Amino acid sequence: AAADGQTPSRYKFDELPWGNDTTHHIADGYDAQVLIRWGDPVLADAPDFDVMNQTTAAQLKQFGYNNDYVGFVPLNADSTRGLLCVNHEYTNEEVMFPGLGRQDRAGFEGMTQELVDIEMAAHGGTVVEIARGVDGQWAVIRNGQMNRRIQPFDTKMTFSGPAAGHDRLKTNDDPDGMTVIGTVNNCAGGMTPWGTWLMAEENFHGYFWSDNVDADGKPVIDELSDEARSYRRYGVPGRWYAWGKFYDRWNVDREPNMPNKWGWVVEVDPKDPTSTPVKHTALGRFRHEGAETTIASDGRLVVYMGDDNRFDYQYKYVSDGIVSEDNSANSDLLVNGTLYVARFDADGTIAWLPLVHGQGPLTPENGFADQGDVMIDTRLAADLLGATPMDRPEDAEPRGDGTAYIMLTNNTRRKEPNAANPRADSSFGHIIEIKEDGGNHAATSGTWSILVKCGDPNIAAVGAAWNPDTSENGWFASPDNCAIDADGRLWISTDQGSNWGKTGKSDGLYALETEGDARGTSKLFFRCPVGGELCGPYFTDNNETLFLAVQHPGTDGTKNFAGFERNSTFEDPATRWPDFDDAMPPRPSVLVVTKKGGGKIAV
Ligand code: FEO
Ligand code: CA
Ligand code: CA
Ligand code: CA
Repeated sequence: AAADGQTPSRYKFDELPWGNDTTHHIADGYDAQVLIRWGDPVLADAPDFDVMNQTTAAQLKQFGYNNDYVGFVPLNADSTRGLLCVNHEYTNEEVMFPGLGRQDRAGFEGMTQELVDIEMAAHGGTVVEIARGVDGQWAVIRNGQMNRRIQPFDTKMTFSGPAAGHDRLKTNDDPDGMTVIGTVNNCAGGMTPWGTWLMAEENFHGYFWSDNVDADGKPVIDELSDEARSYRRYGVPGRWYAWGKFYDRWNVDREPNMPNKWGWVVEVDPKDPTSTPVKHTALGRFRHEGAETTIASDGRLVVYMGDDNRFDYQYKYVSDGIVSEDNSANSDLLVNGTLYVARFDADGTIAWLPLVHGQGPLTPENGFADQGDVMIDTRLAADLLGATPMDRPEDAEPRGDGTAYIMLTNNTRRKEPNAANPRADSSFGHIIEIKEDGGNHAATSGTWSILVKCGDPNIAAVGAAWNPDTSENGWFASPDNCAIDADGRLWISTDQGSNWGKTGKSDGLYALETEGDARGTSKLFFRCPVGGELCGPYFTDNNETLFLAVQHPGTDGTKNFAGFERNSTFEDPATRWPDFDDAMPPRPSVLVVTKKGGGKIAV
């Protein structure tokens, strides 16, 4: 295309051929090295992983399961030593534990308290020091002073903001409504300008149990309970895990307010392993996909956040104060500010609607007694404001120039398109670009456009829209996580789930051009082993190192697709990546990508 006088794509690498097999692939000229796997030691006194003899005590000191968000805090000037911050979103019991088989979600017969405790210990997050050696290889520093596991087994957390201490957060073990043990389902996240780590709590509803079920084993909401309206809107209790069989704190029959302590954004100071993580209630309560920050042109902190649910909304939070350069009181920026929800109008403008008690319909007559209620029931408040129902907002990434990219992953239940979600029965998703007015991320209005409509451009019925210079290898489906590198370039990782058979492509990392004549072209840089979803991605500030997280390798959809018809169990996985050891199931792992011989990636 450059020969025609057009602006070429800025990503300099030869794209990978698409495909799907038992291992990972990276573009020529790059190394993708396995840095840390589920079960690898994190704390100095952690035992080596023994998959046949797993214990809670060991897992509490080892790398957790299903690595999702990856962040990095540099500890030196050239970003060759630092703290890796990793979310452990959820667990796949049938792949983790020998002999369990595919979990019977209705009965959970195989789940003992010991297995539940190990599962809890495998959730949450990890902080681990890593360094790049003189040979160019990265390695984990096993005795790193800041190494830490955070989990829902015994990590104590506190609350800040409008819902802290609220009556609806009070539980038997916490009559003040100010503390909670742990965090779960931490999906994407973000790093703040002052070096703290934001862990987004996504599908928290699935962890809550009730003994009250119908003939099909589905939980029944007590319609007379004070929380019935909120439970219905949030899908509580989801009853995905057996934890509530053994712990009152996961059982809504015993602790009806407990779900209100989940679904928040958690801030962690990775440099202080004794610090208490804080759930910041000013950022709202929903199925938080991520929490990517930027500093607006007026100096305020802005956090973009999706609510990953069909027909749910896109949010952003704007602090009252401005980011201070000495980083002294910056965490207060996550305490005092305004949460907004997006309305995408058909004329290409966006209105950010404030969720403020007493304004508009957010009144006691409508069930909101105070700002705490507005934050606890963010979704109900956003419904009343007329926000635009979206096709599952996943990660959202702001760039310093007032632009943001919103990943809409798919929505096969959509019957009626709207301007910003233009396809019914969308299996493949799309990406929206927002330009905030005046280039100011704190603005309450702006414009939006669709950057790409995903899926196969060669099948008319798919309705995809790409720059025609995108090759067979470059188009993708179901954008999920994303990153903007130090040069302002956008990178997309995909999660097709069990839909991958509709494309035949494994999930991967794509370089998606946003500027010039090449806008809307996409190139494949990395692809996952079969059944894995790609998370991360995260670039160091010098663009020389890229962290990728391969989540649940060998699981998604492998039961039904030719060449991979496996049960996705410990004994019969579709791949044994990355160990390829017959005695080891597949392991979620973080990879580190560098250019052979060094230098910036894709330059
Ligand atoms: Fe955990 Fe919405 O992906
Ligand atoms: Ca995600
Ligand atoms: Ca991101
Ligand atoms: Ca997803």
